[in-house]
Amino acid sequence: MNESNPPTPSMSRRGFLGASAALSATLSLPWSWAGAQSVARIGGTTPPWLVWDDEADPVVAALIDSGAVPAVNALLRGWTRNAQPLPAGLPSYLHQFIERARQLPAWTNTGKLKAATDFNKKRGTYLGVAYGFVSGMMSTVIPHEARAVYYSKGGADMKRRISRTAKFGYDIGSLGGFHDPNGEMIVTAVKTRLAHAGVRHLLPQSPHWRAGADQPKPISQRDILVTWHSLPTSVMRALRQWGVNVPAAEADAFLHSWQVAAHMLGVRDEYIPATWAAADAQAPEILDPVLAPTAEGIELAQILLDLAADTDRGVFSRPMLESMTRYFLGPRIAEWLRIPRRPVQNQMLAMAWPQFVRMKEAGLWMPGAGEAYWFFDELLRQGAMWYLAEGQPIYIEIPDTNNPN
Ligand code: HEM
Repeated sequence: MNESNPPTPSMSRRGFLGASAALSATLSLPWSWAGAQSVARIGGTTPPWLVWDDEADPVVAALIDSGAVPAVNALLRGWTRNAQPLPAGLPSYLHQFIERARQLPAWTNTGKLKAATDFNKKRGTYLGVAYGFVSGMMSTVIPHEARAVYYSKGGADMKRRISRTAKFGYDIGSLGGFHDPNGEMIVTAVKTRLAHAGVRHLLPQSPHWRAGADQPKPISQRDILVTWHSLPTSVMRALRQWGVNVPAAEADAFLHSWQVAAHMLGVRDEYIPATWAAADAQAPEILDPVLAPTAEGIELAQILLDLAADTDRGVFSRPMLESMTRYFLGPRIAEWLRIPRRPVQNQMLAMAWPQFVRMKEAGLWMPGAGEAYWFFDELLRQGAMWYLAEGQPIYIEIPDTNNPN
């Protein structure tokens, strides 16, 4: 497996340009967000919906087309730590790509990355709830993401697949981050970048995906930014809304870990917001207008709501997860997802949550502070972990087919 085949692009240049032109004609969206607000400090004029991943896409297309994916996935299973050398035997063009892709950006601030892991530890319960119930559930009303997940290989086993994006966020803070040589996030991000490149090569071959597609390939840089905002930006919006006190330095460190994540996923620096003010200015342009229900997203949401049903046949967990989704994402999204109203339970949650946050924030949250609150804390932690699929081994792999179903 050491041949150094020059990677062949998956789409002819002519076809690609034609598709792009058609796309830019149909998507006459403005790209008014100023690149000066990005970590690159300058911006180009190319809108992110016309950019995919020039480096990773041809590499992974060549792997898929040459049938090398199963062997490569098997070799990469043992590659897990940030500083770990790559296994021998990878095709040299892949080896070279990964060696480049695993480099942290020059603007990485290790102090901030360490502070971000401390923040994650300190705010674990809130972050688990926010990643699980806010970001995880929101992914079902992001049409491009819902459709890509539904029709790709992982869509065949949704229970394993669905919570992974949210789990990526949670892991930034819990797996030694990007900075620790024994951490796993560099590897996780590079493997995710490869998986996305695989999806870009494969989904255009799916008649199901093509039938409803408004872009030539999935997972454009705009799509990644949309999902990015459903993660840190929405999490920070939620924490602020809940009245959680996040000092500026901690908020900044948290953002930094996500800026590095975006870069490692292949997002160009000119699109990555440099500050919270820049992120808050980009989100209304990027995330808020695209939220909408789709048939695929509604089905995914039903699977998410049943994530815990194995443990109690859904008797208790399902209504609880429904109420939490309604409370955390609001009635508009709950209606889109056909989540039933449960007035009594919803009202109880609406009263209990702010009180719970107030008690925790006031430092009243001590062992013995009250059985009921301990139960609530535990319930939320468990609920978030169901969403985040805690405890399952993660092998992020390059797909070699679409969803066969
Ligand atoms: C795969 C995270 C953006 C669609 C994955 C995986 C992770 C991940 C961790 C590997 C999951 C696994 O192996 O089960 C992220 C993060 C994103 C992001 C952190 C942005 C910040 C997107 C977007 C789309 C997307 C924008 C679609 C529009 C997919 C699909 C897979 C995948 C289809 C492959 C599932 C499979 O068939 O195995 N992503 N993702 N992701 N992602 Fe993303």
